[in-house]
Amino acid sequence: MFFPIYRPRRLRRNESLRRMIRETHLRKDDFIFPMFVVPGKRVKEPIPSMPGIFRFSIDELVKEVKEVYSLDIPAIILFGIPEKKDEVGSEAYAKDGIIQRAIAAIKDAVPEMIVITDVCLCEYTSHGHCGIIKNGEVDNDATLKLLAKEAVTHAEAGADMVAPSDMMDGRVKAIRDALDKAGFSHIPIMSYAVKYASAFYGPFRDAAESAPQFGDRRSYQMDPPNAREAIREANLDVAEGADIIMVKPALPYLDIVYRVKEAVNRPIAAYNVSGEYAMLKAAAANGWLDEKRVVLEALVSIKRAGADLILTYFAKDVAKWLD
Ligand code: PBG
Repeated sequence: MFFPIYRPRRLRRNESLRRMIRETHLRKDDFIFPMFVVPGKRVKEPIPSMPGIFRFSIDELVKEVKEVYSLDIPAIILFGIPEKKDEVGSEAYAKDGIIQRAIAAIKDAVPEMIVITDVCLCEYTSHGHCGIIKNGEVDNDATLKLLAKEAVTHAEAGADMVAPSDMMDGRVKAIRDALDKAGFSHIPIMSYAVKYASAFYGPFRDAAESAPQFGDRRSYQMDPPNAREAIREANLDVAEGADIIMVKPALPYLDIVYRVKEAVNRPIAAYNVSGEYAMLKAAAANGWLDEKRVVLEALVSIKRAGADLILTYFAKDVAKWLD
């Protein structure tokens, strides 16, 4: 079928035709909105490198969650900044830790909101690594017990889903076993299965005060040039009991989203991370890009690549635009 018999432009002539032919759609149901919670009261502190995103104390967080829910966004993911950090990240698995209290307050005020929690130690350790340190290295197996404990305290506080982001080997199984034993076999795990050692997390680390104090995360997060390894990571986490597989970051890794979608039969999430947000916001603030158009184009590309769910700081804006 060649020109002049086939003319692709026939189906692009006007918006009604384009709507009919459109293959991919962004929906509010696709979005998970990341939120940061800090100690204190009446705190709503802007994050300079992430315009429009704030760090909230629990009282202010609850107000914001109400607004997010009123925009018809079904889910949030929570990140906590504790009062005190220590070598072993104690507040990550304290029953009255910042996240545990935030979950309870949110579920009390907006019970329908799906509350997902990030399960990791980096925000809670004084050294900023995602696990505990032995002989100058992140000790995988010793960390698993703490992550499992953390996940159980989140579920006890009322979390609807847990999302381990630490990249320790075997953490999905350790968390699954611990949740099941504690009576939470119904709580799903969204695994950050394919998480790269990316420089695009920069603004998040300022927001969460979680930059490593020595070294970097390359001994546990994935090496950016690797794609086949992503399939191994995704398969492992499926075998260990992950219910949703995440790829992170999203935009520089759309090929990985596509490959993982082909390889594993689980819902796929992609994390449009802080650096991806900061880039578009900065260019838009300078008048160099049309914000609404580039954001919608970027997010639909993540869905087109195969993501079923998108974690994005743009969720509120897009929910308004989609109305
Ligand atoms: C780790 C975690 C990170 C992000 C989500 N969970 C940071 C990291 O691994 O250094 C990054 C999210 C973003 O950049 O938006 N708990």
